[in-house]
Amino acid sequence: MEALSNSRIEAAYRERTRRSAELAREARELFPSGITHDSRKIDPYTIYVDRAEGPRKWDVDGNEYIDYFGGHGALLLGHHRPEIDHAIAEALARGTHFGSSHEGEVRWAQAVKALVPAAERVRFTSSGTEATHLALRIARAATGRRKVVRFRTHFHGWHDHMAQGYTSHFDGTATPGVLDEVAGSVVLLDPGDETAMRETLAGDPDVAAVILEPTGASFGLIPLRPAFLEALRAATEENGALLIFDEVVTGFRVSPGGAQGEFGIAPDLTTFAKILAGGLPGGALVGRKDLLDHLDFEAASADGREKINHQGTYNANPVSAAAGAEMLRIVGSSDACTRANDFGERLRARLNEVLIEEDVPWAAYGTFSGFHLFLNPEGRAIRADRFDPLAIDYRELKSNPPGLADRLRLAMLSNGVDVNGWPGGVISAAHGDAELTETANALRESLRMLKAEDAI
Ligand SMILES: Cc1ncc(COP(=O)(O)O)c(C=O)c1O
Repeated sequence: MEALSNSRIEAAYRERTRRSAELAREARELFPSGITHDSRKIDPYTIYVDRAEGPRKWDVDGNEYIDYFGGHGALLLGHHRPEIDHAIAEALARGTHFGSSHEGEVRWAQAVKALVPAAERVRFTSSGTEATHLALRIARAATGRRKVVRFRTHFHGWHDHMAQGYTSHFDGTATPGVLDEVAGSVVLLDPGDETAMRETLAGDPDVAAVILEPTGASFGLIPLRPAFLEALRAATEENGALLIFDEVVTGFRVSPGGAQGEFGIAPDLTTFAKILAGGLPGGALVGRKDLLDHLDFEAASADGREKINHQGTYNANPVSAAAGAEMLRIVGSSDACTRANDFGERLRARLNEVLIEEDVPWAAYGTFSGFHLFLNPEGRAIRADRFDPLAIDYRELKSNPPGLADRLRLAMLSNGVDVNGWPGGVISAAHGDAELTETANALRESLRMLKAEDAI
């Protein structure tokens, strides 16, 4: 990890993060690229975090950060919410794995059903990826059809049906290691393209299901009009295909009932993870009873069909169940979603003020408790507070001038703010006025650092 450039931003970052650099050097000998999740890649190396509290975290060099990674979106209430810590400690004291059914899983599923009316039945998994995988299998079995419709740039985890069309292979061809037959069973459409969606569903009787992130790819990085969801609900129903909402991010976040609660649309199947499990590992597939009955021993046998097998060592593990049930109890009985959404609105407006004051033609945008920074790769003449991402092609929203996002992230880290790679972030209900002011100041200072080395 020699210095790749003579950037002063990089030099300042290196100066503050010496212990992280040492750990990164060790990690390079252990992990591909030295990291354990693709989204933690940052050049020259990432920070190593030691502890976290509320909306903040501290790295191994003692630097403090306002956190906009939020446990990849899992931590709607911020780090270390005392009630959740307490629920985890109580569960831990009784044992981490019984290999049996337990009361906690019943309470957890009841908490899901209380917030999500479309969850007639619940099946817990260990991750969101597993939940979307199971959703597709059930959709195929239930419809007797082969294909799945997805939208370019929408993310649904990393299994074989989801590997193409997220960051690459927008033509639908298989990514390395994926069978052409599997990639070929996925129909990729442009996000929000209602005509293509209608034509595909009407013209192809082999479509089992359509899956999407209901507020748009990557929590609104590529936004979707809510009217698209209505059109999609109608078209799937008309053509006998199932509608799957991937609410791994939006679930229990945009509103206690997720995007489906917010927009009043009932999908056939829904996938959850992240907030669902209160900051611990866990996911779920929920939805119509007749569909989840494909996992049910008695229902399958009564219908004279073969059941879909589904195992998973950590399904509904007691500690995740306790954390998740407590998280959902708080989400359902407090203003946590509204607080996070309000902060999102104020943050986007504040960041845009800074961009205008600093005369930088970028924009902060987003919906609910998310924000995204458009770094204007094509050099458009835009004004931050009038920026309309729906008017921009998804490829442009998704691309950044080479190297700029990383340099911005290093500058923001050096100014005490951790944003994610696109760049943007997710907000918790624990973010407040101090975080708002400090984030705006960090952006201003970072822009000045970027200007000082002619990066913008
Ligand atoms: C919308 C969406 N679906 C699915 C997943 C996959 O979930 P997991 O990382 O728990 O496998 C993610 C993860 O970020 C996601 O954002």
